[in-house]
Amino acid sequence: MAPLDPHSYADGESPLTTHVALTLYLDFATCSLHGSALLTLSAPHSGPLSLDTRSLTIHSAIDPTSLSPIPFSLSPPDPVLGSRLSLSLPSETPLSSILLSFSTSSSSALHFLSPSQAASPFPYAYTQCQSIHARSLFPCHDTPAARIRFSALLNIPSSLSAVMAARHHARRDPIPSEGGLSLPDSLWCAPGRIVEQFFMEQPIPPYLFAFAVGHIVFRDIGPRTRVYAGPDVVDEAAREFAGTEEMIRAGEKLFGPYDWERFDLLVLPMSFPYGGMENPRMVFLTPTVIKGDAAGAQVVAHELAHSWTGNLITNKTNEDFWLNEGFTTYAERRIVEVVQGEERAALNMGIGWRGLNRTVERFRDNMEFTKLKPCMQGVDPDDVYSEIPYEKGFQFLWRIERQVGRPVFDEFTKKYISTFKFQSIDTETFIDFLKANVPGIENQIDLRLWVEGTGIPPDAMEPVSAVYNKIKTLASEFKNGQMPGEDEVAQWDSQEWELYLENLSANVDPSQALALDARYRLSESRDWEVKVAFLELAISTGCKEYYAEAERSLKQVGRMKYLRPLYTALAKCSEEGKMLARRIYAESRNCYHPIAQGVVESILSKHA
Ligand code: BES
Ligand code: ZN
Repeated sequence: MAPLDPHSYADGESPLTTHVALTLYLDFATCSLHGSALLTLSAPHSGPLSLDTRSLTIHSAIDPTSLSPIPFSLSPPDPVLGSRLSLSLPSETPLSSILLSFSTSSSSALHFLSPSQAASPFPYAYTQCQSIHARSLFPCHDTPAARIRFSALLNIPSSLSAVMAARHHARRDPIPSEGGLSLPDSLWCAPGRIVEQFFMEQPIPPYLFAFAVGHIVFRDIGPRTRVYAGPDVVDEAAREFAGTEEMIRAGEKLFGPYDWERFDLLVLPMSFPYGGMENPRMVFLTPTVIKGDAAGAQVVAHELAHSWTGNLITNKTNEDFWLNEGFTTYAERRIVEVVQGEERAALNMGIGWRGLNRTVERFRDNMEFTKLKPCMQGVDPDDVYSEIPYEKGFQFLWRIERQVGRPVFDEFTKKYISTFKFQSIDTETFIDFLKANVPGIENQIDLRLWVEGTGIPPDAMEPVSAVYNKIKTLASEFKNGQMPGEDEVAQWDSQEWELYLENLSANVDPSQALALDARYRLSESRDWEVKVAFLELAISTGCKEYYAEAERSLKQVGRMKYLRPLYTALAKCSEEGKMLARRIYAESRNCYHPIAQGVVESILSKHA
């Protein structure tokens, strides 16, 4: 049968899931999850049906009406896709729902933290499903082409609370038998357990399924926004994100109504592997963005922008990922321009341009992944995650904007969003819509080259930013022993420092790195962007003085944006660095989310 998505076992011929009713029991003692999922199909079906799973044990599959068992089998795991769950639905009575029970203690989506790992008196657990890890929480059609609504009962220790990217309905005592056959009342209703109940009425792609459980408190910071976090960071977080409502209004003006009702923010423990994740109604954020400068707002602007581009209109498969991230990067910069001004937006564009050029260079032996729409058959999205979809996607849209003018492009964007909202679309659909609404555009821009070509098209444009140019000049003077003066750096925040340090990297010697640090104390910065950019540079130049600081950092943080450069710099610089990287990883592995573990392991094996 025709595959729908190279990253899913779902086929184009059987009906897809439209609703899931979940009961999930979190066992912190064994770091495991036990659950049941009642899947509703878009139409009654008989015969074979394939679902995606990864690291799940399937205990039973039954017809929920007759309670008769449904024959099933699980394929050996494919390293990218996981295991196919093959069900044979009875031929005499087509079924429109299936009840599955399952458990896992090695889910690639779920990270359990002990109290010490969570830096709290309490344990913590959270999920990260993008790109293809929802299948490791419950059996599903794990393709963004299949949108689902869901309800969820989370059974957790009563000392903790749960949040979800969904509408919270109730916190209440467990009710006998609601855990179903696989979760006996002796477990479900045991003393010290509580149930949190949620509904998600807007249809979402499975990668946006998300929950977190821990000692979580909140502050209201706007009419539709609450910050959730641990008690030690919640007040700082509330101050940091105070401007959120202004950004939502800017987004609504640019892209149309905010359709998700609430826009809450959750600040996770330090191990959270991304800067931010656009889980609907509740964005997940790393605590490393809380530092009182523009960068925190930038991440929120980005995740907020996904509310339109990504969550309302979703890429049909990961091959169309640029539709999510490129559009969101464009929308993020438009929001930043409104709330922080043109110069800040231009600086972000400049940083993005540099990142794009560097990434194309990095992929020079694998140019497929410099395409806006790459072929991803057999490729794990986590392995090829890069700035290409973000920055080449941004450049493509900016190119169209320059061609048609901003007012026309803004009208086009609004119409695009209202036309395709709550749908999952592919690149071809976007291109057809563009051609239909901007007649003749294909004669002005080589759309094919942009979508199918490798590298950076000739009509991409380096953004003009005064701050960006100034920093590049300062960086080029460093070779001659010239450092920026105190007055020059007084206004710099992390973005300026990051850009400065990146522009140095080519030929700095260790004594210069030490001198720079002696003057500006970059290795001790409380700002992770600055600290990591400096440590990466210093270690790459061969300064062993910074091994200890790198070790401390790698044992504190799990954000992959920091793990990647630090582990790579250590693994590349010397035999000693490589051994250190291996030891640090062995000692901190459990502090990293499973996705980050995979990424670090691939860095270490590449430099074995
Ligand atoms: N959706 C992404 C994060 C993601 C991408 C998770 C692919 C898993 C697979 C999110 O919106 C994002 O892009 N986050 C960025 C922040 C941003 C300001 C560019 C990050 O985490 O660095
Ligand atoms: Zn994004």
